Amino acid sequence: MFAIDFGARSIKVLKLNKVGAGYELDSFGTNFSPEGAVANGEIINPIAVAEALADLLSKIRMRDNRAIIAITGQKLIIREIILPLMEEKEILPGVLWEAPKYVPYNLDEAVIDAEKIEEFTEKDGNQMMRVLLVAVPKSVIQPYMEALKKVRIIPKIVDISSAANIRAFDFYLNKSQNEPKEKVQEEKEKQSIETVTDAILSIGASTTILTLTEKGNLKFARDILIGGNDITKAIAKSLNLTFSEAEKLKRETKIINPSEESPGEKKSDEAEKIMLKILDQLAKEVRKSLNYYKTQNQQVKYSKIILCGGSANISGIEEFLTNEFEITTKIGDPWKGIRINEAEFDLKRLNKIKSTLATVIGLAKRER
Ligand SMILES: Nc1ncnc2c1ncn2[C@@H]1O[C@H](COP(=O)(O)OP(=O)(O)OP(=O)(O)O)[C@@H](O)[C@H]1O
Ligand SMILES: [Mg+2]
Repeated sequence: MFAIDFGARSIKVLKLNKVGAGYELDSFGTNFSPEGAVANGEIINPIAVAEALADLLSKIRMRDNRAIIAITGQKLIIREIILPLMEEKEILPGVLWEAPKYVPYNLDEAVIDAEKIEEFTEKDGNQMMRVLLVAVPKSVIQPYMEALKKVRIIPKIVDISSAANIRAFDFYLNKSQNEPKEKVQEEKEKQSIETVTDAILSIGASTTILTLTEKGNLKFARDILIGGNDITKAIAKSLNLTFSEAEKLKRETKIINPSEESPGEKKSDEAEKIMLKILDQLAKEVRKSLNYYKTQNQQVKYSKIILCGGSANISGIEEFLTNEFEITTKIGDPWKGIRINEAEFDLKRLNKIKSTLATVIGLAKRER
């Protein structure tokens, strides 16, 4: 089985082999997505996508025909719900009963899934469980199936991008229950135990996915329809450049927080201003979600933000976001724990494109 991640800029394919407790890179490749064929986390033109995927698979001589894919998008609904503890086979019916409360479209036209996260006991002794409800309209999945069918690939698993992103960075995530505060009086300490929440921010070409995780579990996910393409387009428009000229300028421009700016450097001032403006809009949306989650869940403490997606390569973005949110923001390395044969692969290149590959690596890590 191999993993496929369909993006607005590129399609990524990657296969890992399990070796002992870790993994080894088997094969990978990327190809540009045809213009407009993938947008906002959805496949718009399955025929064009199938052609690009077929090219890619033949180029890397992929022999496997079973794939794991990821879906995302604003229509994907991920909600944690609390139910009385029940047997595994009763979970889905239990969730379906509750689903109309959370799913704003007809359940007949949706694919619904549920997964138990953990069991817990309420104060009054009731045995309860946290369950993750996932819902997506069939119309979102259908173009993926159409594209894969054309290339004769069997979709073995349909995962969600956020879950893949968590798997990609499992080394970095806080796995322990809580982070107890320094010892005060016992009573006080009990109340002040904080839940440590990590965020993963995947900034792609057309979409940014914010994922919140605790103890390695998916707690919240949101797609924000702002990405690197919006920056390139805005630069092209303002400076009257072609898309590829603007893309080049974007990659050469370092963003510096206005407070730290030193006078002198003039060359890409205009581009930098535009980049900051769009990243500000993005940060505003991210902040909304971070605040929302905090009001819904008591004692949340954000520990760090892990950055990925191609736009994590924007020069200066770690400092910019650390400063915006006052949460340490770092680019994650999804290759951690994966053996790579240096005779077969170009390590330098793999390192350069690690942020773009994070989701497909996380997908490929999924146990079957
Ligand atoms: N060095 C760089 N500097 C700035 N931006 C970069 C750099 N390298 C890549 N990007 C940007 O990253 C984006 C592509 O990232 P990625 O491959 O994660 O997107 P995608 O998965 O195809 O899109 P999406 O997930 O939004 O559907 C593009 O907008 C590209 O301009
Ligand atoms: Mg992507």
